[in-house]
Amino acid sequence: MIFFEPGNRDRKLLPHDPFKGVIVPRPIGWISTMSEGGALNLAPYSFFNGFSSWPQIVGFASESEKDSAAFAIETGEFVWSMATWALRDKMNATSAGLPRGESEFAYAGLATAPSKLVRAPRVADSPAALECRVTQVVRLLNIEGRETPGTLVLGQVIGMHIDERLMKNGRFDLVAARPIARCGYDEYTVIERVFSLKRPDSGGNSFGGEKAS
Ligand SMILES: Cc1cc2nc3c(=O)[nH]c(=O)nc-3n(C[C@H](O)[C@H](O)[C@H](O)COP(=O)(O)O)c2cc1C
Repeated sequence: MIFFEPGNRDRKLLPHDPFKGVIVPRPIGWISTMSEGGALNLAPYSFFNGFSSWPQIVGFASESEKDSAAFAIETGEFVWSMATWALRDKMNATSAGLPRGESEFAYAGLATAPSKLVRAPRVADSPAALECRVTQVVRLLNIEGRETPGTLVLGQVIGMHIDERLMKNGRFDLVAARPIARCGYDEYTVIERVFSLKRPDSGGNSFGGEKAS
């Protein structure tokens, strides 16, 4: 095993930091926001995940001061859209560093679809989307307690969109939706196969911890 402390790796052995290559695959937080002034923004964030199933909390982390976090903090709202294999190039295009106020929807040739409960639209061609209201903004600290440039924006899901064509036997058909996820370096993965495991303590129900709602 190679052991090293972050920031002090052997760059001959490990020319690229393997951190993002081992925390994999990371779901892509394709985040749309709208500023108070009506500027539209869309960008991918792979430091994204769900943190609680009830209430449903999701969050994305910005490694520096970027528009998505700024607009979400300013308005208290953001929308997540699922990035899929079919949308991979357009998703990637939305990571371009455009001047504030210039819409990545237009830049990437993506249509918007209106949200129901928040101002920012969702990606029309994406098969799933979450409308979220910001619950916490966490400035990330290092082990000395000093602020880093990173900000984690957490939000509660207040509305969910699902493409009914992808519903199969009461479940969202992931293999048909083909979501993509981020790996390390310039690599991604795509969901093409899933498998089931029954939890031992859930009476055979693999959704053991699901809350009634
Ligand atoms: C797949 C993918 C994942 C990304 N994940 C992150 C991330 O987790 N945090 C981050 O700060 N930037 C991330 N980026 C870079 C941002 O998307 C990029 O800086 C973008 O211009 C930010 O846009 P904004 O200023 O409109 O929010 C990612 C880019 C790609 C292509």
